[in-house]
Amino acid sequence: MAIANYDEKIPNNVDLGDDRRLKRALESWQPNFINWWKQMGPTLPTDDVYLRTAINVGRDGWAQFGHVAMEEYRWGIFLAERDANRKVAFGAHKGEDAWQQVPGEYRSDLQRLIVIQGDTEPASVEQQRNLGLSAPSLYDLRNLFQVNVEEGRHLWAMVYLLHAYFGREGREEADELLLRNSGSSDSPRILGAFNEETPDWLSFFMFTYFTDRDGKYQLGTLKESAFDPLSRTCEFMLKEESHHMFVGTTGIDRVVRRSCEVMAEHDTYDIAQYGAIPLDVIQKYLNFHYSVSLDLFGSEISTNAANYFTMGLKGRWAEEAQNDDHILQSTTVSVDSLTESGVITSKEVSALTALNHTLRNEYIADCRNGVTRWNRVLEEFGVDFRLRLPATSFNRRVGIFSPIETTPDGEILSLDDFNSTKERYLPTEADKAFVRSLMKPVYEPGKIASWIAPPIKGINNQPFDYEYVHLA
Ligand SMILES: [Fe+2]
Ligand SMILES: [Fe+2]
Repeated sequence: MAIANYDEKIPNNVDLGDDRRLKRALESWQPNFINWWKQMGPTLPTDDVYLRTAINVGRDGWAQFGHVAMEEYRWGIFLAERDANRKVAFGAHKGEDAWQQVPGEYRSDLQRLIVIQGDTEPASVEQQRNLGLSAPSLYDLRNLFQVNVEEGRHLWAMVYLLHAYFGREGREEADELLLRNSGSSDSPRILGAFNEETPDWLSFFMFTYFTDRDGKYQLGTLKESAFDPLSRTCEFMLKEESHHMFVGTTGIDRVVRRSCEVMAEHDTYDIAQYGAIPLDVIQKYLNFHYSVSLDLFGSEISTNAANYFTMGLKGRWAEEAQNDDHILQSTTVSVDSLTESGVITSKEVSALTALNHTLRNEYIADCRNGVTRWNRVLEEFGVDFRLRLPATSFNRRVGIFSPIETTPDGEILSLDDFNSTKERYLPTEADKAFVRSLMKPVYEPGKIASWIAPPIKGINNQPFDYEYVHLA
């Protein structure tokens, strides 16, 4: 069934109407979700927003655009279409039919994976809740809210799985997803990067570029899962996720472009005085968001990752395109490592235990594409400065590099040297205060803030000066 049922209280394409118990359970979770949205969602009051809503999971025309009041957004449950012949592509169950139910022996591991993924979705809404108050244009404001409602829908996606397949424990976990909050001291979100605040729009664009992209890779591995409902859920989430990364890619592109314009106009790198963001500040923000996003991949060597793979719960990125036996019991790969005296080197380890490292490398290669794109803007303006990704060892709190500090070039520093030079590499309080000082809201259609260039085109073929949002 491809067309979603919109007559139900909860739009869905999973025949929710046929399962009265499940439907009742989710309908009783729904008011808690709305309550959470009102308490922890966007703080800027709006009448309506030009949003896309999923209506279909097929290849074309899966979304419909229109002005809707955000509280009335139709958050629903959508799984990609089922392939009745799907087989497990990797691990000990390779070649068996994909699972339509959760095998008892994998229940707690699968539940844990779903809860961790589910926890990130509302976390980012919480992190971004105040950004509407300083939106650089109505176009950007609309994109922020689009990302927010879809992260809300991703929470629904995980909560559906918890309710439908994990019994009472699953329902309790679903409740707790609304009780933990980003940055809370007594019940924080599970992963570190999701407790950092997103206080300004440069951070928002970096977050959607680097941290949503981590999400893309995590969802990509879960899409390979032998547990078919999880696989189908993630496949559809990935479709929505690509817009979030588009917001990041084009957002940073437009910031760089505006900085170049102002540099050209005044013939100086020193553009803070003209209300634009200096390139070295952009680089520092990039360094920060990239390094905390690398931490989300976990330890380079991980027996958990190996077990999840062998069990069939979590595959590799594009598992079927990998040219090997998909079991990896006898394959080795080279991973970063540290010698006892703290020198960075590499060593051969089992490919199974190095899966986090392998996935992270895919991610890093993907991140480079954005940097190349932004550097083309710098080239276009004849600016010598180039943005770059810092070394994997820079500013890490998770994995083998966490005990050491290095420069963005990967040169090892003593803690004292790092602390006395880090203002060159990471945003300082003054940098953050400066960026925040630029964040004045611009709500007039067709107008834009001083520090960012307008987009090349609008959303869904609408012009830039379209009234994407009606404020309350
Ligand atoms: Fe998401
Ligand atoms: Fe996202």
